[in-house]
Amino acid sequence: MKIIETVAEMRSERARMTSPVALVPTLGGLHAGHEALLHAARRRAGTVIASLFLNPTQFGENEDLDRYPADRERDLAVMRKAGVDAVFAPSNSEMYPPDDDFVVDPGAIGEILEGAHRPGHLRGVSTVVAKLFIATRPDLAYFGEKDAQQIEVVRRMARGLLFGIEIVPIPTVRDENGLALSSRHAYLSDDERVAAKVVYRSLCRARDAWEAGERDKTTLEDVIRAVIDTEPLATLDYAAVVDARTFGPISEPGQGASGPDLTALALVAARFGSTRLIDNIRLDRNVTF
Ligand code: PAJ
Repeated sequence: MKIIETVAEMRSERARMTSPVALVPTLGGLHAGHEALLHAARRRAGTVIASLFLNPTQFGENEDLDRYPADRERDLAVMRKAGVDAVFAPSNSEMYPPDDDFVVDPGAIGEILEGAHRPGHLRGVSTVVAKLFIATRPDLAYFGEKDAQQIEVVRRMARGLLFGIEIVPIPTVRDENGLALSSRHAYLSDDERVAAKVVYRSLCRARDAWEAGERDKTTLEDVIRAVIDTEPLATLDYAAVVDARTFGPISEPGQGASGPDLTALALVAARFGSTRLIDNIRLDRNVTF
């Protein structure tokens, strides 16, 4: 497994790679969720590049950049074991040349939900993912459904900026309690870890309501909120039900509220002490974990 630290070296290695080339971008702090992306990429692509870059521009001032639980040697070992061919692990100055203030603006989708609660976050994501795409020129790029809004931003960017890269979504990997795996679990106390189960439970209750015929956005969001409210250690950031394709209202104009094409995604963000967790599920089709 090659470890590449400069953009120049990445470009010359890329020129020699076997097609198709898949990219799996990560911040580090790898867990079984990241491994699922690496394995899916390995199964399909001739060459797998994983990136390891703790991108400062997607973290807010008071967020956890300084304590992010990434362990470079451990992360490299996980990548090696997953059959990664090349790791792109650039420094901050490689990715952000001096005086660089150029950004990729995701537009309206960057301002709602995660974008509203973490101002600038999705702009930081689209900017760094664009740079990773340009440095590695993959044919395919793998992203986790756990970060549903991030995938939508990346999809729109790949289409809008004509990258010609297929964005491959991978289902959320959960623990035995349904809790979506996250690097940030390292911050949770034992009590908070138990309490965090409420996140997936709240989404399942919303899906139960959907399956029982409920189609009203506000009612479905209230179901999620009510479940989160039962957990004293949880503070809700937002509970939202949106059209899975547009991130807009679930009843499209001219479409019956029970139309066969209706898609819905329930999203939740909640804090447990200083740890912020996000999760989502599709309401209109069964997901398993
Ligand atoms: P990071 O949080 O390290 O996640 C890397 C990838 O793993 C993302 O696509 C994320 O959605 C996916 N992932 C995380 N937890 C998962 C889980 N439980 N199941 C399945 N996939 C999961 O997301 C980022 O990094 C960054 O924003 C990045 C895209 C690398 C840009 O800096």
